[in-house]
Amino acid sequence: MRFNVNTTNPESQPSACQIITVAQPRKLSKSGLLLDKASKGYLASILKSGDMTGKLGQCLLLHRVPGIAAERVLLVGSGKDSEMNERSFTRLIDSIADTLSSSGAADAQLCPADISLKGRDLAWKVRQAVLLLSNSKYNFDRMKSSKQKADKGLRKLTLNIPAGDTAKAKQAISEAVAISAGMDLARDLGNLPGNICTPSYLAKQAKLLASGEKKIKVSVLDEADMKRLKMGSLLSVSAGSRQPAKLIVIEYRGADAKQRPIALVGKGVTFDSGGVSLKPGAAMDEMKFDMCGAASVIGTISAVAKMDLPINVVGIIPTTENMPDGLATKPGDIVTSMSGQTIEILNTDAEGRLILCDALTYVGKFKPGYVIDIATLTGACIVALGKIPSAVLGNNQTLINELIRSGNQIEDKVWELPLWDEYQEQLDSNFADMANIGGRDAGAITAACFLSRYTKDYKWAHLDIAGTAWKSGDSKGATGRPVPLLTQFILNQVKGR
Ligand code: BES
Ligand code: MN
Ligand code: ZN
Repeated sequence: MRFNVNTTNPESQPSACQIITVAQPRKLSKSGLLLDKASKGYLASILKSGDMTGKLGQCLLLHRVPGIAAERVLLVGSGKDSEMNERSFTRLIDSIADTLSSSGAADAQLCPADISLKGRDLAWKVRQAVLLLSNSKYNFDRMKSSKQKADKGLRKLTLNIPAGDTAKAKQAISEAVAISAGMDLARDLGNLPGNICTPSYLAKQAKLLASGEKKIKVSVLDEADMKRLKMGSLLSVSAGSRQPAKLIVIEYRGADAKQRPIALVGKGVTFDSGGVSLKPGAAMDEMKFDMCGAASVIGTISAVAKMDLPINVVGIIPTTENMPDGLATKPGDIVTSMSGQTIEILNTDAEGRLILCDALTYVGKFKPGYVIDIATLTGACIVALGKIPSAVLGNNQTLINELIRSGNQIEDKVWELPLWDEYQEQLDSNFADMANIGGRDAGAITAACFLSRYTKDYKWAHLDIAGTAWKSGDSKGATGRPVPLLTQFILNQVKGR
């Protein structure tokens, strides 16, 4: 989808569809009043008929409105002005996307300045509208034998902007387009099945990022390299798999080499069967999404590169399958991590932390300013917080607060869980330095406690995206989260912005 900006009066701008918001009760927006005047009261008469009350999300598509350059006018309800918030803004844009997807209009024009939202400027509205509309166009049919036609539905959106604000709006559009492309990439990788999206496939996709992009360098460690580095914990997860594990390193150099990079470490389990501690069959297919942390790292770095940000970012992706097999790790097995700490594996299904701990030790060599790991780590996270926010825990409150703030800025929310010392003893083991599980209570927290033992040398936060990275049910599929959150966080770290 393409986006552009113009500043002409909406009534005289030709397009297939002019979008006009109507607030409750039956109140035309500023641009709506201009159109009404040009149509000699036609829109007001429609409102009087009672067909459009302004209820949030209500849509009415009009054809050949007299005196208007556009072929159609889409009236869309924005609800009561006093109740307009981020969530209703999202619902408003989603209903526009919905109605236009089944109309014949290939292009449309929207006036974001008409929608007033407390605490949000025009750039925010432009960016969110572009993100939401691009997202609504996402379609994954790569694995279907007959493809959807690419030229169906809305293809171009013009944003009608007050003359003084065009530079800001263009900047907002280009950021949203970059973020949206990063989300699409992450969603594609997430949606691909485990028999195609293997660790080697992920490595190949990461390498593609580097082709034609001078600021990105990708290297891939294989199992022999990991053995040399003594990554006994990571290798214990891949022991039962025919697919070789990989450790992918993506370096984006947008700033001086002296500047410490932001490190993103993403869990890349391309299929999590649970291993010998096999998962039950129901919905096991969804464990192909267990690499969505890795996908978000790839998506975010692609967005950062597209925006050409002057900052250094390093992405580390430990990637493997978790499978049962004669050589697979067994409950009770004890392994030695790269850090030297020993781990008693009481449940082979708690594998994410086992691959992350070695990656988190390895990342230290990049002297990172911040380290953020991103992982579909625990079902317990979904029990605690549901599917609205990702969970954040860490050892540095400034970093945690910055992540919370970034999430609020771009509607990709995170909520903090406590990482208190009291929880650490749940990981005590009779035979090793620690166990890899901490019992039934507070599973999302004890998983983070495990990781905290490998992250003492730097400022670190952990994002548990088990509830947010994909949807189940009828709309099953990867969401692209938390690419918006991570990209916003990095944008905020760029000096002088
Ligand atoms: N990948 C899963 C976590 C998960 C489960 C994410 C369901 C999304 C939906 C992870 O590897 C796992 O299996 N975790 C176990 C940990 C337990 C054995 C301590 C879990 O959450 O049940
Ligand atoms: Mn598991
Ligand atoms: Zn897993």
